[in-house]
Amino acid sequence: MSTTVDRAQQREREDRAARGAAAAFLVAIAAAIGLFVVYLSGGHTQGEGALLFVAFGGIGVGLGIWAKVLLPEPELVEDRPPLHSTAEERAEFVKVYGGSAGQSRSPRRRFLVRLLAGAGTSLGLALLLPFRSLGPGPESELFRTSWREGEHLVTAEGERIRAADVVADEIVTVFPESATTPEQRADSQAVLIGLRAERMALPEGSPPTVEQLVVYSKICTHAGCPVGLYRAAVGELLCPCHQSTFDVNEGARVRSGPAGRPLPQLPLGTDDDGFLISLGDFEGPVGPAFWNMSDRPGSDA
Ligand code: FES
Repeated sequence: MSTTVDRAQQREREDRAARGAAAAFLVAIAAAIGLFVVYLSGGHTQGEGALLFVAFGGIGVGLGIWAKVLLPEPELVEDRPPLHSTAEERAEFVKVYGGSAGQSRSPRRRFLVRLLAGAGTSLGLALLLPFRSLGPGPESELFRTSWREGEHLVTAEGERIRAADVVADEIVTVFPESATTPEQRADSQAVLIGLRAERMALPEGSPPTVEQLVVYSKICTHAGCPVGLYRAAVGELLCPCHQSTFDVNEGARVRSGPAGRPLPQLPLGTDDDGFLISLGDFEGPVGPAFWNMSDRPGSDA
């Protein structure tokens, strides 16, 4: 009799535990769906973090209850005389286990397994959402700036520059006249330098220049810092970040430092009034990028 009472209590305990685990899995599913909704409606970092916490927490609590109450103990020791089940107990066993103790036919277990699978699937789908944040590919944007043929060079204040006004050893930061926003100016910034004729040794095939004037991208080809320090005495541009130096007389080739390739040069011309204009975009992509590797000394690429 007492055995029958114990089993009834155990069943009741297991039923309670099953309900608790099911509730935890349902909470996890609801949190994962909530994560979807919050993300797709614009996102909220703290809210998404809280929902992720609840989703993982729900799965963890459900699994904990399941393991603690519903799974058989790994080791069971019971001192007892040989058991002879009564006909009533055998009938009860068959009712619960469907006549097979070794197989998992318990409806409760099937129910929990389905809920756990649902929680895992919905959370897994929610975790795929960050891929959507990667956005569109850059396409050819990395290879283009705002410089176009006929674009006037202007100072930071927007003033056009006459070729005749730039003297030797002078350096001026310039932008395309049509680039007015910080985004447009960011990759188009350049330095106009007046060289000394006797030192000029631009490589063959360099873009056209106007007398002794050259224009190079101001964005370091190592990690993108502005290359603004000019040592006129040695004809060298210095990047302050990691001390790459570029020889302005020889097409801004790298003299020293970690930069992998020269600063790209701008093809230069003048309009009918003597103002400096670009004849196109830079000769190559500006700034740091994977293509640096092919020109790095010692590279096999
Ligand atoms: S960013 Fe210029 S040397 Fe590193």
